[in-house]
Amino acid sequence: MFITFEGIEGSGKSTQLRRVAATLPDAIVTKEPGGPPIAERIRAILLDSASALDPTAEMFLFAASRRQNVVEVIRPALVRGAVVLCDRFTDATLAYQGFGRLLDLDRLRTLNAWATDSLTPDLTLLFDLSEETGITRARSRNAGASTDEGRFEAEDLRFHRRVREGYLSLATSEPKRFAVVDGNGSEDEVFARVGEVLRERGVLR
Ligand code: TYD
Repeated sequence: MFITFEGIEGSGKSTQLRRVAATLPDAIVTKEPGGPPIAERIRAILLDSASALDPTAEMFLFAASRRQNVVEVIRPALVRGAVVLCDRFTDATLAYQGFGRLLDLDRLRTLNAWATDSLTPDLTLLFDLSEETGITRARSRNAGASTDEGRFEAEDLRFHRRVREGYLSLATSEPKRFAVVDGNGSEDEVFARVGEVLRERGVLR
């Protein structure tokens, strides 16, 4: 079973992923961009706000990182029958590079299929909340950790609005695969919603 966690910055998806992982001790946890060591090196280039990355070059780096993660981590785990939890996957490319950066969606779909040998998640949890709330949360988290904004967090609200709307339209076009989870409220409130979805889908009993 392959479950992906998606949403805009500050949507709470990574926190919720950790909480789900705590209830599924045998699950394999990974993230994008990143995962295996080569993909982590690609991630460093992608998130460096000092690098003037061309949007198409950026897209290829996401695809390269994803390929490495699928080949080294995700596919072998699924073959063993493990549950795999992945923080962002192909939908992030459609939402950020497609709806956000306005690259051609059909090409991005082709690239995603190429990079993953058409691996599609069984379930995608989309944590939805307004871009204002998300960015405010992400910025206060950065301030607490005294880390700089990444290249994406520095984008303006219009960019994040397009990403959010992009995610929602993906969810509408594949209602069986997606579960949209309201990301507003406390961590516990959101986790209760996640638990409901996971029980409905037979992941948790
Ligand atoms: P990360 O620090 O992992 O942030 P988050 O916790 O929000 O996931 O940074 C990943 C960034 O990369 C995030 O801003 C979304 C972006 N991204 C894309 O633009 N395209 C992609 O295909 C993926 C996987 C991520």
